[in-house]
Order: sequence, then structure tokens, then C-alpha cells
Amino acid sequence: MDKHYQNIVILTGAGISAESGLSTFRSENGLWNNHPVEDVATIEAFERNPEYVHEFYNEMRPELFAAKPNPAHLAITKLQQEYKNSNINIITQNVDVLHEKAGNKNVYHIHGQINQIVCLNCGHVFETWSDVHSDDECEYCHTKGLLKPNIVFFGESLLYMDTVEYLLQNCDLFLSVGTSGVVYPAAGFVQVAYLNGARTCEFNLEKTSNNYMFAEHIEGPAGKTLPAFVDELLKK
Ligand code: OAD
Repeated sequence: MDKHYQNIVILTGAGISAESGLSTFRSENGLWNNHPVEDVATIEAFERNPEYVHEFYNEMRPELFAAKPNPAHLAITKLQQEYKNSNINIITQNVDVLHEKAGNKNVYHIHGQINQIVCLNCGHVFETWSDVHSDDECEYCHTKGLLKPNIVFFGESLLYMDTVEYLLQNCDLFLSVGTSGVVYPAAGFVQVAYLNGARTCEFNLEKTSNNYMFAEHIEGPAGKTLPAFVDELLKK
């Protein structure tokens, strides 16, 4: 197809970070197999035992911060730099910071970010690169004990949804990279893009549960398939 795309949306999930050495959620050794969601990623768990939840994310931070972007992240950087006259936005479900490390722009972390905390009293969001504890004080309103990782727990609202809705309704190319398509609303974004007339394309190691929603499937590791796809786009 020789079309020049004006508004590209790239949805990413844990699979795009797998080749950087980070665990996905639902694979055999995935995070949710070793740590039940209801213990570490619900607001009830946080209210019940905030220190336990903080410890889970404290343990996760060093690995996530040490990880390096892989060729899939770098392909997005290349696309953003070299594909002219196009708005290219990234909607990520990932809480790691690999898109930013790769130099990707316009990144929306709809499930939050591991390098941020939010004060449940005043709503202030802070950057953090170190451990957080349940008795820590908010540096803005000075309330103690109400800092929460700025990660969207099950049962909470996703971030940036107004912007996301706008981007999906206006995109002409929608790429979904390394996501199993089981967690909504992200799993349904492809339908919004499709109804707007966008070309829809999924990059995954295997067929996903919502693969029937996509017009095209590119199977294989994203670190190989996405750079090849970007090179094709740049040739046109
Ligand atoms: P999953 O673990 O559910 O799915 C990862 C997907 O990536 C699978 O479909 C794999 O086949 C695919 N994959 C793995 N390695 C790949 C590679 N090298 N190249 C291409 N694809 C690869 O992770 P997500 O779909 O991101 O939410 O999960 C969605 C949400 O569920 C997460 O954001 C998280 C979780 O609960 C929160 O924590 C709020």
C-alpha cells in the first residue's frame, strides 16, 4: 500500500519489552503467575497491606530501570524521526520507561509508570527512582502514609483516556505490538480505530485472543518484525 499515513497510533504491551529481558504478565513465568493480581494490583490489596504492595514495586524498580530498549523501541524512534508529516503517538500499557529511554515521543502510559508515585491526599504526582514505603510523607502536602505507586490497579480508571479516544478516532494506521488483548479497554482500541477506517495490524509471537479484530497479523518477535515494517513504511 503506497498510502502516506497522517495519524499513526502504536499500542504496546509487555511483549515489546520482552526482548529487553522483562517478564510479560501471562506467560508461563509471567508476573501474574508468581504474584496474584489480587495481592499486589488492586486498590483493596493496597488498603489492606500497603507496605506489601510497596515492597512488590520496590523490588521491581531496579530491574525495570536497568533494562535497555530493544530494536522494537528503536524502530519507533526511527519512524518518529524519519516518517515526515505524520503524527505518531504511542499508547502503552507498560509501566517501564523503555519508550522514553529509546527517545520515543508522545508516549501515553495508560496503566501508569513505575517511576512515579501519587499522593492520594492531594493528587500530586512525583518522580521516584528509589524505594517508597507506606509511612513516607508527601513532599507537597506533607501527609504521611498516602503515597501510592502511580500504577493503575484493577478497578481504577485508566489515565489519558480523553486523549486516547481522540487519537483512536482520528488515526489511519493502528499498530498493536506485544499485547495479549485480554485486558480492556486497551483490547478494544483496535475496534475504534477500525471503525474510523484505519489500517489495523498486530505484531505478536502468536495468535492473540482478539486477533480476529485485526486486518493484518505479523507473527514473530517484535524486535525483528517492527523494524522491518518501519523500513517498508519509510521506503514509500
Ligand atoms: P501479556 O503478558 O498479557 O501479553 C504479552 C503478549 O506479548 C503475549 O501475547 C505474547 O505472545 C506477546 N509477546 C511476548 N514476547 C514477544 C515478542 N518478543 N514480540 C512480540 N510479542 C511478544 O501483557 P499485556 O498484554 O501487556 O496491567 O498485559 C496487559 C495488562 O495486563 C498489563 O498492562 C498489566 C496486566 O495486568 C496492569 O498492570 C494494570
